Amino acid sequence: MDVWSALILVCLLTCAVIPPSSPDPNDEACLTHLSESLQDPFKNLQNWTKATFADPCQGFTSYLQGATCNNGRIYKLSLSNLGLKGSISPFLSNCTNLQALDLSSNSLSGAIPADLKFLVNLAVLNLSSNHLSGEIPQEIALCAYLNVIDLHDNSLSGPIPQQLGLLVRLSVFDVSNNRLSGQIPASLGNRSAILPRFNASSYEGNKDLYGYPLPPMKSKGLSVLAIVGIGLGSGFLSLVLSFTAVCIWLRVSEQKMTAEEGKISQLMPDY
Ligand SMILES: *[C@@H]1O[C@H](CO)[C@@H](O)[C@H](O)[C@H]1NC(C)=O
Ligand SMILES: *[C@@H]1O[C@H](CO)[C@@H](O)[C@H](O)[C@H]1NC(C)=O
Ligand SMILES: *[C@@H]1O[C@H](CO)[C@@H](O)[C@H](O)[C@H]1NC(C)=O
Ligand SMILES: *[C@@H]1O[C@H](CO)[C@@H](O)[C@H](O)[C@H]1NC(C)=O
Ligand SMILES: *[C@@H]1O[C@H](CO)[C@@H](O)[C@H](O)[C@H]1NC(C)=O
Repeated sequence: MDVWSALILVCLLTCAVIPPSSPDPNDEACLTHLSESLQDPFKNLQNWTKATFADPCQGFTSYLQGATCNNGRIYKLSLSNLGLKGSISPFLSNCTNLQALDLSSNSLSGAIPADLKFLVNLAVLNLSSNHLSGEIPQEIALCAYLNVIDLHDNSLSGPIPQQLGLLVRLSVFDVSNNRLSGQIPASLGNRSAILPRFNASSYEGNKDLYGYPLPPMKSKGLSVLAIVGIGLGSGFLSLVLSFTAVCIWLRVSEQKMTAEEGKISQLMPDY
């Protein structure tokens, strides 16, 4: 047996011993931390146990509810409408092969972790219909493959990050019914001079959000105008009122004077 045959034999043996997809420690960390940050009051999550986290995937087979596997790694997590509470762990970013994350229609609270930026393959992010608060992290613009960002019906505040406009693949963007404020970034409102990139329905239900495709300077602009208007109006009104008052006072005192003069002339003896 020459050296090459021996090497090939060793190679074959190694391949036989090591399974084609060994469990990934990053996925295990991701799932362990996520299950710790989530609460499952209705006991909807099946197989979400430490034993399964250690080996959630076997090739294309998943042993974990909501998870879809590809080559031994989790590439989809879909835990929609399960009555889940709690928050989204930043360790979710350890599921580095994740392409789709759907945690929609639960009761999740807290912030959207900026660490999601490490999910460089993420194409679909659906966190709609939860109680998420805080700002939309600008870092998610680093997930360059994002096609879908659906964050509608939450309690997100602050501005829409300008950086999201850089996501060239973005085809669905919905932040309606939140508490967002400020101007809609031009890059997210405009496709060309006339066409909106995303129409008004993507932005509705945010009291202090303004700019194309929503009306310009909505409530805030109007209230500034209203304050100026009220200021000018009341200034003018008080000017008119005080002028009238002065006129009346002058008229009255003039009449009094003439009356007094009359009295005086009556009292004065004639010489
Ligand atoms: C739970 O795990 C068992 C065995 O590993 C598997 O047969 C079953 O399909 C899993 N259930 C779900 C919901 O994935
Ligand atoms: C897992 O995620 C956490 C939080 O984002 C991060 O601090 C840690 O470095 C990640 N671990 C690995 C191995 O990437
Ligand atoms: C996000 O999830 C909600 C509820 O599960 C669903 O109605 C909506 O269509 C999803 N968004 C996208 C863009 O698929
Ligand atoms: C939309 O684009 C047009 C031309 O590209 C520009 O004049 C207009 O100001 C833009 N609208 C907003 C809200 O940025
Ligand atoms: C807005 O866009 C969505 C999806 O792109 C579409 O379904 C809807 O009909 C549009 N609404 C209007 C008023 O154009």
